[in-house]
Amino acid sequence: MPQPADLESLAIDIAREAGELARRRRREGVSIAATKSAIADIVTEADREVENLIRERLSAARPGDGFLGEESGAEQGESGVTWVVDPIDGTVNYAYGIPSYAVSIAAVTGAPVVGEWRAEAGVVFNPVSGELFHAARGAGTWLDGERLAVSAEPAEAGAMLATGLGYDPATHEGDLARIARIMPMARDIRRIGAASLDLAFVAAGRIDGYYERGLQAWDHAAGALLVTEAGGRIGGLDDIDGFGRRLIVAAGPGLFDELFRAARD
Ligand code: IPD
Ligand code: CA
Repeated sequence: MPQPADLESLAIDIAREAGELARRRRREGVSIAATKSAIADIVTEADREVENLIRERLSAARPGDGFLGEESGAEQGESGVTWVVDPIDGTVNYAYGIPSYAVSIAAVTGAPVVGEWRAEAGVVFNPVSGELFHAARGAGTWLDGERLAVSAEPAEAGAMLATGLGYDPATHEGDLARIARIMPMARDIRRIGAASLDLAFVAAGRIDGYYERGLQAWDHAAGALLVTEAGGRIGGLDDIDGFGRRLIVAAGPGLFDELFRAARD
């Protein structure tokens, strides 16, 4: 099996190149190519082009690996490593020119199934801010040479939280009720619009806790490793609601249990 650090450094190089391409395409203008699960769930030409670039680079460097990407689907490998890729996480931000989007690349081993795989390396790169968060299993989470740690305990004023809302209007009532349940523990709440960045910010201690229902594998594969390698906890992945949406909860050990209880239906 390859070393996690080798997978990490390959993912770093490819994420940088992919992020720069996304940023260049954004400057040239973006058009929406199609809608997916719901009218609000969109894909741009850039999402597809960036995923193709990542896929090509990975298969040139490690031809035996598997691939699971948001735009181009799954391909089984024979090496035991699968790359789980979101070329542009935060596509709606990207389409509207809001600079909160990221390339998310993870290498996992074992069955490429949420809750079963073991994450070996993860990278989340926002090409607009230039921030590149990265982790390799057992070696911590890093940003610009600085080792990151989740917040130990929320401040007395309450927890700084983040969440996301489902694209399907049928889910809004439940999601908003959950926010109402959670607000008493919050100092404030953010809807950043890119799950990979929400998770990276938990890892960095910028946000005390994050939860969302309905994430796909590629939305959280890299970010969840950033959180656990920074001393945080991830949970809820086996909790599926009536709409088939998986829960994810991410927080430091001081907040996790309380947030998990409140975020669950
Ligand atoms: C979305 C973002 C968003 C989250 C959605 C995701 P996409 O990913 O991460 O924050 O609320 O659940 O689908 O579609 O922009 O890659
Ligand atoms: Ca995504």
